Amino acid sequence: MAEQHNFEHYQKAADWLKERTAVRPEFAVILGSSLGAITERMTDTEIFDYSDIPGFLLPTNPSHAGKLVFGKMGERPTVIMSGRFHFYEGYSHQVLALPVRVLSLLGVKTLIVTNAAGGVNLDYQVGDIMVMSDHLNMVGVSPMTGPNIAAFGQRFYDVSKLYTPFLRQLAHETAATLTPPLTLREGVYYYCTGPHFETPAEIRAIRILGGDAVGMSTVSETLTAGHCGMEVLGFSLITNMAAGVLDQPLSDEEVGIAARAAADTMGALIEGIIARKG
Ligand code: HPA
Repeated sequence: MAEQHNFEHYQKAADWLKERTAVRPEFAVILGSSLGAITERMTDTEIFDYSDIPGFLLPTNPSHAGKLVFGKMGERPTVIMSGRFHFYEGYSHQVLALPVRVLSLLGVKTLIVTNAAGGVNLDYQVGDIMVMSDHLNMVGVSPMTGPNIAAFGQRFYDVSKLYTPFLRQLAHETAATLTPPLTLREGVYYYCTGPHFETPAEIRAIRILGGDAVGMSTVSETLTAGHCGMEVLGFSLITNMAAGVLDQPLSDEEVGIAARAAADTMGALIEGIIARKG
């Protein structure tokens, strides 16, 4: 059977953090690649390297830092995961459950995930922010494969409202209050494992299947959050048009440039949502 962590493994990491910070976060934000600037919006920060947290995972991707940042965002206790983990790094989907389960043991009730994604919907433009209404996970994998840990949730669980409807509504309302006001897209995130970008034929198929954006992350996190009963809000930043839409090769560099350009807007949006949430 694939490597899998038990409850004690998650608890050890959570207890280590609880002994070292008094912050009891209600919100967690997981940052997508090159969106690290969002952490500058936190106040009263306490920062922990992933490498110091017992049993935590280590990012291998240079555009992802490896830090948990505790503090306040929009005056509310929050923890930011600056640096996430992906299947393409060699982690199994079961192992990818770890960070969100540790966040859950820290008391997090609302998870906000961000990612860089390719635009599949031809109405989208680079720089657009899409609220995730749902996802398509045709890879056929689940982070909850293996023995169920009932302390987190049930074996079989409903994901028909994984991306919490009232948070999606709050996202649109908050975007309209920003200066200048922002109009968000809303659509379906299609999960591909990467690390290659998709082929043009795959993108045409994804469009037919109902995907609006495509990316290599997030789904293991939101499925884990849904299992342990967290509310979830997801944002995809469209960093490039998906393969074959434009006659140009895709590159990580292009993704990084677009993500860094939008990080401040994404940060303002997330801060506003956290401040406004009841
Ligand atoms: N495909 C997959 N993942 C991505 C893309 C893409 O086009 N852009 C940013 N992350």
